[in-house]
Amino acid sequence: MAEQSQQGGFAWGKVILLGEHAVVYGHKAIAGAIERGVHCSASPSSSARLLVTAWDIDVQVGDEHPVANALRAILEASEAAPALLEAQSDLPAGAGLGSSAALCVAIARALRPDLQGPGLEALANRGEVFFHENPSGIDVALSSGGGMGVYRKATGLTPIDCPKLPLVVGLSGVPRSTAAMVAGVGQRLRDKPALETHLQAIANQVELGQEALLAGELEPLGALMDQNHASLRELGVSIDALDQMVEAAREAGALGAKLTGAGGGGAMIALAPGRQDEVSEKLQSLGYESFVTNLGAPRTT
Ligand code: PMV
Repeated sequence: MAEQSQQGGFAWGKVILLGEHAVVYGHKAIAGAIERGVHCSASPSSSARLLVTAWDIDVQVGDEHPVANALRAILEASEAAPALLEAQSDLPAGAGLGSSAALCVAIARALRPDLQGPGLEALANRGEVFFHENPSGIDVALSSGGGMGVYRKATGLTPIDCPKLPLVVGLSGVPRSTAAMVAGVGQRLRDKPALETHLQAIANQVELGQEALLAGELEPLGALMDQNHASLRELGVSIDALDQMVEAAREAGALGAKLTGAGGGGAMIALAPGRQDEVSEKLQSLGYESFVTNLGAPRTT
């Protein structure tokens, strides 16, 4: 295959800084792109095939597989010719770091390098629906655009301009389903309406967190992350592995730490200016995978 006939595209992963679960009930959340993601290249081919070596995926259009369905949907909507798509990823799959959105955006970019902004997002969302029944669109927006933003269901993502945040991401290694975690919180709220106070507490943490971010005050932001983890625990979405990593990160000098995403497994984040390596090593010494990154990866569109 001639080099020149290849085209490719990159897409970021994401983390939610503050506000998961409460965002489902109409409150704000703050999220940003991280400096890891998926790169996908496309080469002309008589049939459509997608390889993602890092995730052990090798599918063709027509296979019974959510990734094959996503590929078919994006390919059809793109009106591009069938292609061999080869993706590289340094983003763990299924950990709440936006891996499926990043894959869909990278495929969309590889097939249609002329698209950007809403057109690119719409194309990627054709695939994302096969991973999240009712995606809010936040993952795809951050994955394609980078940066950081405040997200609300009713109004979508509003970018915020602030310096990048030095983070450590720790992986529990425990698989989880966002849909099941969201349903679990819904059930607990119906069983015990007093839990609503924790949603309100999270909403307040997001408001104060946004102010701290805009003022560049990392210490109060870290304290709010700690409070946010406590509120999420009250909602029943943490697990021992996440609590242990959060505690260890604080001991190793993080300004704050919390689970990120749906919980029940997946990942945690720690805000650790000047202490990223120490925090990451501490998590690894406990047997968890971790990596150092920055929140608010550069905007790309
Ligand atoms: O899918 P995750 O792990 O990035 O987390 C989703 C965040 C929730 O607030 C729990 C659900 C949602 O749709 O916003």
